[in-house]
Amino acid sequence: MAAEAPTIPLLTPYKLGKFNLSHRVVLAPLMRQRSYGNVPQPHAILYYSQRTSKGGLLIAEATGVSNTAQGYADTPGIWTKEQVEAWKPIVDAVHAKGGVFFCQIWHTGRVSNQGFQPSGQAPLSSSDRPLTPQIQANGFNVADFTPPRRLRIEEIPQIVNDFRLAARNAIEAGFDGVEIHGAHGYLIDQFMKDQVNDRTDQYGGSLENRCRFALEIVEAVSNEIGADRVGIRLSPFADYMESGDSNPEALGLYMAESLNKYKILYCHMVEPRMKTLGEKSESPHSLVPMRKAFKGSFLVVGGYDREDGNRAIAENRTDLVVYGRLFLANPDLPKRFKLNAPLNKYNRDTFYISDPILGYTDYPFLEDIA
Ligand SMILES: Cc1cc2nc3c(=O)[nH]c(=O)nc-3n(C[C@H](O)[C@H](O)[C@H](O)COP(=O)(O)O)c2cc1C
Repeated sequence: MAAEAPTIPLLTPYKLGKFNLSHRVVLAPLMRQRSYGNVPQPHAILYYSQRTSKGGLLIAEATGVSNTAQGYADTPGIWTKEQVEAWKPIVDAVHAKGGVFFCQIWHTGRVSNQGFQPSGQAPLSSSDRPLTPQIQANGFNVADFTPPRRLRIEEIPQIVNDFRLAARNAIEAGFDGVEIHGAHGYLIDQFMKDQVNDRTDQYGGSLENRCRFALEIVEAVSNEIGADRVGIRLSPFADYMESGDSNPEALGLYMAESLNKYKILYCHMVEPRMKTLGEKSESPHSLVPMRKAFKGSFLVVGGYDREDGNRAIAENRTDLVVYGRLFLANPDLPKRFKLNAPLNKYNRDTFYISDPILGYTDYPFLEDIA
């Protein structure tokens, strides 16, 4: 009898709250810009079901909470009935294959322009600090950002409520839970980081004040759908979109400790080495203090491969490892890790194009290559 290959740490089971995961290789939230008119499309059924394994966790791409939340073309939303209905067959397909599916909900804040906003209004943010035009994630388009308008204090509960309603809608669409997008320089991060937030009211200044908005959203969403269905993504060390912080360790620790109060399911943190969205670089910083401080499940992301992911689990630096680009290009990534099979290379040029197949559902499975 042939000896069974020894099980690698990434492929051991894990109990994520009430969800029994069969392995620890998680699909990262990946914006693909193929949801025409902000409505999820039928081609996403194939895309997500290709990346589903029995007992695997998937996090859906960033999904807008309201009509002021959008900042990129053809990203999905979850604030209208039509969007909720359009998500249902996608979620059903993931469940049919035994996957656990969370929806990442976001508001882009100032990473937007008036073309994406209702009645051409200015995007909303914690401050009115404008963002300089940037080369977009696809590497060639230049994004122009309209200078934002600072949210008035009495408007903030409305945005918190938009997150609450979006979470309710995600459950209505069939998702198992939501991940609040508090990373990468979008609205929640624009409140947390002192490079952006210059408020002098109770949402600005001290760490406690800058994190108030994020924690109010966590609380509202937890009350609405149950904390056992709520995760949050944070990137204290990143400075994408001119959202850096003068003391990222303190910020990350403060959030990890404060989140304990709400008993949410998981905290998902971006590795400090992810200096830009697409590249990793050496960093002296570590997520271990936050991992130790947070009492729920911990997820890490950013530049992981098979070996590095196994090591992170074996050393108890995380519970689950989240894969972005490798999972984008390898729909059967857990199986490839199991067999230690070669990986398809990702093609950056097709990350964000609107084609419903190319660079989306045409990455080959192992058996297609054999
Ligand atoms: C095409 C693409 C789209 C992305 N979209 C999102 C997103 O919607 N939400 C998010 O939080 N991060 C997003 N990210 C970041 C990834 O989730 C992940 O953190 C990053 O790719 C680093 O992980 P990796 O090294 O495994 O790719 C995106 C990254 C890529 C490459």
